Amino acid sequence: MVRKFFVGGNWKCNGTGEEVKKIVTTLNEAEVPSEDVVEVVVSPPFVFLPLVKSLLRSDFHVSAQNCWVRKGGAFTGEVSAEMLVNLGIPWVILGHSERRALLNESNEFVGDKVAYALSQGLKVIACVGETLEQRESGSTVAVVAAQTKAIADKVSNWENVVLAYEPVWAIGTGKVATPVQAQEVHVELRKWLHNNVGADVAASTRIIYGGSVNGANCKELATKPDVDGFLVGGASLKPEFIDIIKSAT
Ligand code: G3P
Repeated sequence: MVRKFFVGGNWKCNGTGEEVKKIVTTLNEAEVPSEDVVEVVVSPPFVFLPLVKSLLRSDFHVSAQNCWVRKGGAFTGEVSAEMLVNLGIPWVILGHSERRALLNESNEFVGDKVAYALSQGLKVIACVGETLEQRESGSTVAVVAAQTKAIADKVSNWENVVLAYEPVWAIGTGKVATPVQAQEVHVELRKWLHNNVGADVAASTRIIYGGSVNGANCKELATKPDVDGFLVGGASLKPEFIDIIKSAT
């Protein structure tokens, strides 16, 4: 099964209108492999979604960084999946570790969010990952399996799901997982999907790595058979994001 390489850029809570326009100009001018080789999705903050969608080249796509767990209404401050669909935003990141930690998003809550977003026609980058304490205690696989199970308990159709393995200890730290570490966990995630969801889903679901990916370390990571791409934070705001896109194999 050939899985199209996927490179996501998570801009997090960063940017001004002028900075966003500069980033998009850099992206629009870049010479990169075709859409047949690599799928590129950038995730600006909510307030810049219409601007980025209006300026971004047509072979790159736009994602939100989150959305609400059910139909909109009296949920002050939230943005609903319906609103993203209405804006023509096709993708959404859900379950990012920063939201799990800072906003206490539970595994079940993330599973509900993924299911609802998919039900509204969105495509989802679903994030899982362990903390340093969990890794050092040997519970990495148990943790990411539980996070994935919470999604699988609510989701049967995985064709619009990309699974992002983002070890919390590698996010924003400069401590990137080694290619062997990343491949080990990706294999375990694909094995879990095979045993608990199905062989076809396991073979076709893209499992991407996130956590201190940059223009230098992406090449070796990309050679690993179960690393189907990246979810990039800090480096997605810099020109080196183009180098990461070019690492597509
Ligand atoms: O969602 C991707 C992000 O968590 C990774 O951040 O800055 O370590 O690439 P960074």
